[in-house]
Amino acid sequence: MKARHGTGVAVERELRLKTILVTGGAGFIGSNFVLHMLEQGDCSIVNLDKLTYAGNPANLASLEGRPEYTLVRGDICDAALVASLLEQYRPEAIVHFAAESHVDRSIAGPEAFLKTNIDGTFTLLQAARIYFGKLTGAERDAFRFLHVSTDEVYGTLTPEDPAFHEETPYAPNSPYAASKAASDHLVRAWVHTYGLPAIVTNCSNNYGRFQFPEKLIPLMILHALAGKPLPIYGDGLQVRDWLYVEDHCSALRTVLATGRVGETYNVGGGNQRSNLEVVKTLCALLDELVPDSKFVPHVRLITYVQDRPGHDRRYAIDARKLETELGWTAKESFETGLRRTVEWYLANRDWVEGVTSGAYQQWIGQNYGSRAVVEAGEAAR
Ligand code: NAD
Ligand code: TYD
Repeated sequence: MKARHGTGVAVERELRLKTILVTGGAGFIGSNFVLHMLEQGDCSIVNLDKLTYAGNPANLASLEGRPEYTLVRGDICDAALVASLLEQYRPEAIVHFAAESHVDRSIAGPEAFLKTNIDGTFTLLQAARIYFGKLTGAERDAFRFLHVSTDEVYGTLTPEDPAFHEETPYAPNSPYAASKAASDHLVRAWVHTYGLPAIVTNCSNNYGRFQFPEKLIPLMILHALAGKPLPIYGDGLQVRDWLYVEDHCSALRTVLATGRVGETYNVGGGNQRSNLEVVKTLCALLDELVPDSKFVPHVRLITYVQDRPGHDRRYAIDARKLETELGWTAKESFETGLRRTVEWYLANRDWVEGVTSGAYQQWIGQNYGSRAVVEAGEAAR
């Protein structure tokens, strides 16, 4: 292994990963990452996932029978389980996705967010520290703990503010963002105090295949296809910076291979769009891709509903550190990525049916049932 840490230039640490312990690998980004890594053919993966409502082994059905992939159903808060997995599989890296990830759910019930996102990360860090302490030689040099976090830890921007960069002070506003911020701080402390070779990435909003349809883009696609109202919170002018999930995965692979220990890297694709723009673009794509639908033009389904409490107005990511230091760039434009995403949801109706029964309907009823409709059937704003 060639490693030159702290040089400020891209390091030349070859990617010779053997085993990676992924947490939350049955979720949206985690499952895309597992598939992305196994496609490269240079590692095996152990996936520790509790399989909450958001975890779906069907995302990884194509790996059935592949010896390089192991799914362990379990909780990252279970210290004994985590320690035994580290001893058994001796991973060269831990890539930590497992989290409660939906802002609206964190508002409705923050407890699970504190438990998994904070206690769970603490448990992993402790186990990783003990495991790392026993490593020697090349194994010790190679080990990394990659903590996958969010841009929401930085709070909210005005339209004039520069994009979030790695030195932007933390100012989390939702229970979700606060729990992720807490976990980032724990990782920082474990690097600083115990010398754990960890790296943090803070990424903007992802979209793509396997995203659970509680999040904006898949929710709007599925509602539009079913002729249901498209619920825009508040005025719909909140801005998010969208990144195609495959680009996030390639960024994580790059950071794992060449990122500097103790550093934070912001990840984003430079695609700032208001929610209203996103939903109108989705409606136009659906008009084109399902022209025979009786709901064309889909834009008529837009409905303004009561806003999310404490709703962050704008997120934007400055990813220049990752781009200049490690040479990463996003490949997908927002237009091509969104088209691929809509096509995927259209082509995978079985997957959709699998995740939208029972408990999902309960959530939709809880989150939208009590939300006052402000203006229905709009297309004109
Ligand atoms: P997700 O909700 O789709 O998946 C989370 C996964 O974690 C699920 O498979 C779930 O079963 C698992 N999990 C939850 N609690 C667990 C526990 N206690 N033990 C083990 N497994 C558990 O989330 P996602 O959208 O794929 O996000 C993955 C990570 O990326 C999160 O840490 C999130 O904060 C971060 N992130 C997400 C986005 C985004 O736009 N989705 C953007 C930036 C960062
Ligand atoms: P979401 O996908 O929940 O991601 P996040 O809150 O982490 O950014 O929401 C993206 C944006 O879309 C956010 O500003 C809230 C808004 N939104 C709606 O307007 N309506 C909805 O039904 C949902 C789920 C989100």
